[in-house]
Amino acid sequence: MLPQYLVNFKLAELPQEETDVLIIGSGIAGLYAALKLSTGYRVMLVTKEEAENGSTELAQGGIAAALGENDSPAAHFEDTLRAGAGLCDRDAVAVLVEEGPRRVRELIELGVPFDREDGKLALGREGAHSRRRIVHAGGDATGDVIWRCLAARAWQEPRITVRQGVMALDLLVADKRCYGALVWEGASNRIKAVFAGATVLASGGAGRLFPVTTNPPVATGDGLAMAYRCGAEVVDLEFFQFHPTVLAHPAAGGFLISEAVRGEGAVLRNSRGERFMPAYHPLAELAPRDIVSRAISAEMERHKAAHVFLDLTTIQPAVLERRFPRIVAACRKLGLEPTRDWVPVAPAAHYFMGGVRTDVWGRTNIDGLYACGEVACTGVHGANRLASNSLLEGVVFSARIAEFLLGESPLRRPQRVPPFIFQGLKEGGLEKRADLSWLQRLVQEKVGLCRNGPELQDCLRELEVRLNDLGLAADSRTAAAWANLLTVAWLMARAAAWRQESRGAHYRLDFPASRPEWVKRLVLSREEGIKEVKVNA
Ligand code: SIN
Repeated sequence: MLPQYLVNFKLAELPQEETDVLIIGSGIAGLYAALKLSTGYRVMLVTKEEAENGSTELAQGGIAAALGENDSPAAHFEDTLRAGAGLCDRDAVAVLVEEGPRRVRELIELGVPFDREDGKLALGREGAHSRRRIVHAGGDATGDVIWRCLAARAWQEPRITVRQGVMALDLLVADKRCYGALVWEGASNRIKAVFAGATVLASGGAGRLFPVTTNPPVATGDGLAMAYRCGAEVVDLEFFQFHPTVLAHPAAGGFLISEAVRGEGAVLRNSRGERFMPAYHPLAELAPRDIVSRAISAEMERHKAAHVFLDLTTIQPAVLERRFPRIVAACRKLGLEPTRDWVPVAPAAHYFMGGVRTDVWGRTNIDGLYACGEVACTGVHGANRLASNSLLEGVVFSARIAEFLLGESPLRRPQRVPPFIFQGLKEGGLEKRADLSWLQRLVQEKVGLCRNGPELQDCLRELEVRLNDLGLAADSRTAAAWANLLTVAWLMARAAAWRQESRGAHYRLDFPASRPEWVKRLVLSREEGIKEVKVNA
């Protein structure tokens, strides 16, 4: 069994701080939760690097919400369910689509300048949406624009304390009650304890499991791994979404080419210049992401090519420049002229559908521990997330946590914190054993876009040998992040090996079809191993 903590400690000997609500993570979910909760509580928000280094700022496409004249939450509901391939939680999806428009209006009230046409919100189109319903800002800079607006508000709010360069290491949990977290301060290189009446995980995803990802370097699965270590349930971990069109250039660093360009008419071509998507799905380039990613991968395999091409010359140059300024600039920086040249693209790791299991109020199975954003799993995405539902999920479910804690269930501050002591680890040496390229190669090869049973078993054996290293205390923050990635890789491989079918983002070469008996979700926890639960479908 994995040790419960990454370091040895005696609580009584650590520096200590206290707050009402501790939020871990500074993306859209963390900031929105902080702003809402600060109306009633003191909030401390910790983030392991500079606050702006998360995934939110990189989000391009936008936020999906039923705001158009010919749209409705019911249509958004159906599209989300269809993309989710039978595994979405209907109640969670209903909350997402019904509360979404209100949250977007709140963002506008907070000052987010979403793009407009003729005074009305400009609505983009993305894969598997039956309508134009994606609001965007700065053309393709939506995440950045929203983040800056929320951050400016949070920085001004006296009841919010933002601590940058502070990495959450582990949650302080006893008898299924969370009392806060151990954090590692970068500046002082000190570990300290932060006690809180409620702790909110908003720490994002784990794209750094893969060698090529659209995620930033901070996406090392910290929240998910620490939640698992302390006894929280995690779910749907076999579903990791690959984005179909990531710029395939050695200097591009996982730069995303938004699905919205296909919504505006860009088409995919194989290395022979042939458009191939119509042969794979009636929605062609706008099919659900898992289908487009696998089709691209099949074409690459068929033609022994390292990428396919995205042809943006189908879009009027003026529209391309106005609507996608960042994409155009990124291409030009690499010597590609998107108004003329086809752009090389390939699928890359993008978004973790799985996460810490929560209900529709962000509650986990640990009292006092909440989760929202990519680290959480309410079940809204099922086996495959619908494009642009992620920023939406960030605002909808963080607001719900605040509503819950400010209304129905006001915060209970623990009277007495247990005297936590953990001394089970050998000191030192973990950082030297942290081999990220080995892990990324293994995960890409064995738990990537296509998987099969024997390879998953090999992968599990290799990971389990390395897991023994986690008997060593983390001797640096890099070592801690490595321990988290290793833990998440192992959990993901276990879930992928268990699910003997293909569904959404989980594709098994040895079980290529979906099977009705697998309409169920896999919940993992330290105490119960893997448990199969019914889908609220
Ligand atoms: C994109 O712009 O294609 C990404 C949007 C998303 O991941 O939902």
